[in-house]
Formats: sequence, C-alpha cells, structure tokens
Amino acid sequence: MSHQLIKVYEEGQVGVIQLNRPKVLNALNRQMVDEIVEQLEVYDRNPEIRVMVIKGNDKVFAAGADIDEMLEDTPLSIELTDPFAVWDRMTLIKKPIIAAVNGFCLGGAFELALHCDLIIAGEDAKFGFPEVKLGVMPGAGGTQLLTKAIGQRRALEWIWLGEMHDADEAKSLGIVNRVVAPELVEEEAMRFTHSLAKQAPISVRLIKEAVRAAGDLPLREGMRLERKNFYLAFDSEDQTEGMKAFVEKRPPNFKGV
Ligand code: HXC
Repeated sequence: MSHQLIKVYEEGQVGVIQLNRPKVLNALNRQMVDEIVEQLEVYDRNPEIRVMVIKGNDKVFAAGADIDEMLEDTPLSIELTDPFAVWDRMTLIKKPIIAAVNGFCLGGAFELALHCDLIIAGEDAKFGFPEVKLGVMPGAGGTQLLTKAIGQRRALEWIWLGEMHDADEAKSLGIVNRVVAPELVEEEAMRFTHSLAKQAPISVRLIKEAVRAAGDLPLREGMRLERKNFYLAFDSEDQTEGMKAFVEKRPPNFKGV
C-alpha cells in the first residue's frame, strides 16, 4: 500500500504510524484518516506486530480535521461520502494503539488520540476541541469519548469553550497516561510499547476488548464478556507457558498463540 500523508515503519514488534502533513500542522484530511485506519488494519492482521503507535512530529500531533476540505461540505455531501465510517473501523482494531503527542492535539486529532487506548504526551502538548469556534462541533466521537473520560460537566466546559488544555491538566483528569519532557515523548512511547509487546498478546487483546466493553455495556453484560474472554485465554499456548514459567521460576516466552 502506498502512503502519501503518513509514514509507516516498524521497530521490532511495534508498528508506527507518523502523521505527515507538516506544512498544515498535520491537518487530517479524509485521505489521511483512510490511510491511518487502513494501516492500523494491516498491523492488526500482521502476526509480527503486537502494538501500534500513532504519532505526529516533535512540534505537533495534529491541528484537527482539514478545515479547507470541510469548507464546501453540505449535509448531503457528508451523508454521501460518509467520512465517519472509517472512524468506526478504528474501534474494531484488536491490538493496543498508543498515541504519542507533542504540541497541538485539537479537534479531529484529539478524537484520533481519544480513539487510541493510551496517550503519552509531552509537557508541550495542547488538547482541545475548538470546533465551536468554527460554528460546528466534534463529529468523530469527541462528545462521547471525552464525556466518558471526564464526565458531562467537564466535557461541556471543554467543548463549549473550545479552549486548549495542557498535558498536566489532561493527565489529572485521566485523559493522558503519562507526561514527559517534550523531547522524551518518542522514547517513552517506544519504551512503553516494547514492554507491552512482551506481554502475552492474546491476553493483551482480550483485556482490551473487555476493558473497552466497560464503556459500552451494562455491568452484567460486561462481566459476562470478561468471563468468556477469561475462558478463551485458557485456549492459548501462552496460558500454559505463562503458568509453567511461573512454577519453573523462569521468565515466560510468549508466542501469541
Ligand atoms: C487546515 C490548517 C489547520 C486545519 C492549521 N492549518 N490547522 N489547515 N486545517 N485544521 C494550516 C494553517 O492554515 C497554516 O497554513 C499552517 O497550517 C500553519 O498554521 P498557523 O495557523 O499559521 O499556525 P499557528 O499560528 O502556530 O497556529 C496554530 C493553531 C492554528 C492554533 C493550531 O493553526 C489553528 O487554530 N488551527 C485550527 C485548529 C482547529 O480549529 N481545529 C479543529 C478543526 S475542525 P498556511 O498555508 O497559512 O501556512 C475539526 C472537526 C473534526 O477537527 C470533525 C471530525 C473529523
């Protein structure tokens, strides 16, 4: 697959997607979102890859959806091009996705980061939904994902005012997992993802599905899904290996089967 608006590379078992429209602060146009999600799907199917990272450059994650592209949109053109269907596909990715964020992470880019499982941010990161200032609103899940993360009152304040919030505030509210010096974001993201890649891959994906279900399902159904995933883990060779390694007092060697 050829990419024009992203760069893609692998470091061991970690697949990296770098947003690459630096002249417009990585503004996400529809082609770019298509490329990102297609690549996530490629990595999700690749048994060599265990974890994925989405990052910008050392100055900016991305300044939101491409405003130039949206200028001519009409309700019917949006209905017919259905640009949000590709975002739904991102929710079906089974392996972990980590966002590594420096600088602006606004609008659609903040939605992209919120669709990721974890966010590692630099002290220079700025998060927010400025759509209200453009006379629109978040459309790729922002009202739902931010509200689930920080509650209705805070989400309303953030989305109504459209202001930017720094990484420490985002961390204190549980949006961001780790904040590091701006120049250490990449290093921290790779350190974290390489250690996550060492965990039993089947456990990791079953845990992702179960934890994500907690945001969607009533408790009883979520517990049921957790239990089924727990059973399923016992069908993996890694379960035998993990428990055997424990009793043999050696580190496990997980294979992802
Ligand atoms: C298109 C953008 C852009 C965007 C920046 N640029 N953001 N182009 N869409 N979202 C372009 C600028 O036009 C400019 O191009 C170049 O990138 C550099 O930007 P500047 O504004 O000169 O940089 P700076 O002064 O540092 O200001 C940075 C900024 C500002 C505060 C982030 O660029 C900004 O407010 N951008 C828009 C942020 C925003 O509203 N995002 C939400 C979009 S709506 P030229 O050619 O002039 O050099 C959205 C809806 C999501 O995301 C819906 C679901 C997908």
